[in-house]
Amino acid sequence: MEEAVFIDGVRTPNGRAHREKGWFRKIRPDELLTVIYEGIFERNKKVKPEDVDAVLVGCANISGMQNDIGRLAWLASGLPVTVPSNTMTNQCPSGMSATMHAARAIMTGQADIMLAAGVEDMEKVPMGANMDFPPRILKYYNGADLPMGPTAEKVAEQWNISREDMDNFAVWSNKKAAAARNAGKFKKEIIPVKGVDDDGKEFLVEHDQWIRDKVDVEKMKTMTSPYKPNGRITAATSSPLTQGAACLLLMNRKKADELGLEYHYKFSYGVLAGCDPTIMGIGPISAVQKLFKRTGLTAADIGPIELNEAFASQSLACIRDLKLDNENAPFKRVNVWGGAIALGHPLGQSGARLIVTLLNIMKTDFPNEKYGLASLCGAFGNAAACLIEKVK
Ligand SMILES: CC(C)(COP(=O)(O)OP(=O)(O)OC[C@H]1O[C@@H](n2cnc3c(N)ncnc32)[C@H](O)[C@@H]1OP(=O)(O)O)[C@@H](O)C(=O)NCCC(=O)NCCS
Repeated sequence: MEEAVFIDGVRTPNGRAHREKGWFRKIRPDELLTVIYEGIFERNKKVKPEDVDAVLVGCANISGMQNDIGRLAWLASGLPVTVPSNTMTNQCPSGMSATMHAARAIMTGQADIMLAAGVEDMEKVPMGANMDFPPRILKYYNGADLPMGPTAEKVAEQWNISREDMDNFAVWSNKKAAAARNAGKFKKEIIPVKGVDDDGKEFLVEHDQWIRDKVDVEKMKTMTSPYKPNGRITAATSSPLTQGAACLLLMNRKKADELGLEYHYKFSYGVLAGCDPTIMGIGPISAVQKLFKRTGLTAADIGPIELNEAFASQSLACIRDLKLDNENAPFKRVNVWGGAIALGHPLGQSGARLIVTLLNIMKTDFPNEKYGLASLCGAFGNAAACLIEKVK
């Protein structure tokens, strides 16, 4: 087996997916991807675009502006037509799936240089837009149980996650994200993008729009569930609607040595897993258990963990069930720079973004740890987990 090393990982800042308030409201998702494609070659001048074997792009909703977005954004960037692309979906884990497939192409010797990306604009291509469920699914599931909010409520009930613990979780996600941003920790991974402020004035967006510097705890307590009468989930404990793109440059280790490129981590192992779609948020439990079973590792072997915060309820259920960290936030090794509740969750982008940030966290805050883990759930019971290993 060949080794697939990570040469670089970049992302745009995450913008609020809002028609009037979003900093990227005037930018199309393909343009965000263009910024990322251009940025990765700008930062890695020894890598020529024409030498890339393929570009794999995860996107949850591959319709409208996001239809075959990987290829069309590549062509719209004037990049070589000979480099193929595959836009793929398994909902939120799409960007992580793209990374796994890219790594495996390298590990099996079928490619030397791969780009794995993720992109989503939840304003211009809203969640569920153009969705047409197979009618026969209703034979097995109640249609009202499948949207994301109700699944998060069900997880809160079944795993007995209290409103107080979820509010506390959201507070810490924002605190950690703000602290990491203020310490400049995201600078290495973010490529600034021109956006517009509330008044429509152009400015260079250098950080994520959703991070709340001051979390209004009293207001949070008064917020109600948008999903269910007397429900426990609120906008504050849900990942917000977001837009953003992220990309990883992977390479055969021998090729990287030949080009004299610096690298520290490789793709070690990855799994996809499935779970009951009506409690889709517990997907990381199945995925991480599967990964541990197949690798022989346990939670004690892992350093930092990036676990997507689709909702505080499912994050807490996964952290507790898998014994990844403390019972309640603040955590020591899970989402140490905050998570999606504060940073945003542009569906298909997040799987790639988790790995970009995990690599950054490993190098910056956990330089002696051998392993890092990233995992996320996705609509309809899709889930993925990915193990990163230090090589030097
Ligand atoms: C929860 C959700 C429906 C809320 O959407 P929305 O109504 O457009 O709301 P916003 O995010 O703009 O927030 C609503 C209000 O809550 C407030 N709020 C949000 N987080 C807050 C916090 N931590 N503290 C205080 N107020 C908060 C906002 O400021 C806003 O109030 P305002 O209008 O007075 O400013 C939406 O974010 C959502 O669907 N999230 C889940 C996305 C999803 O399912 N992703 C896939 C997961 S697998």
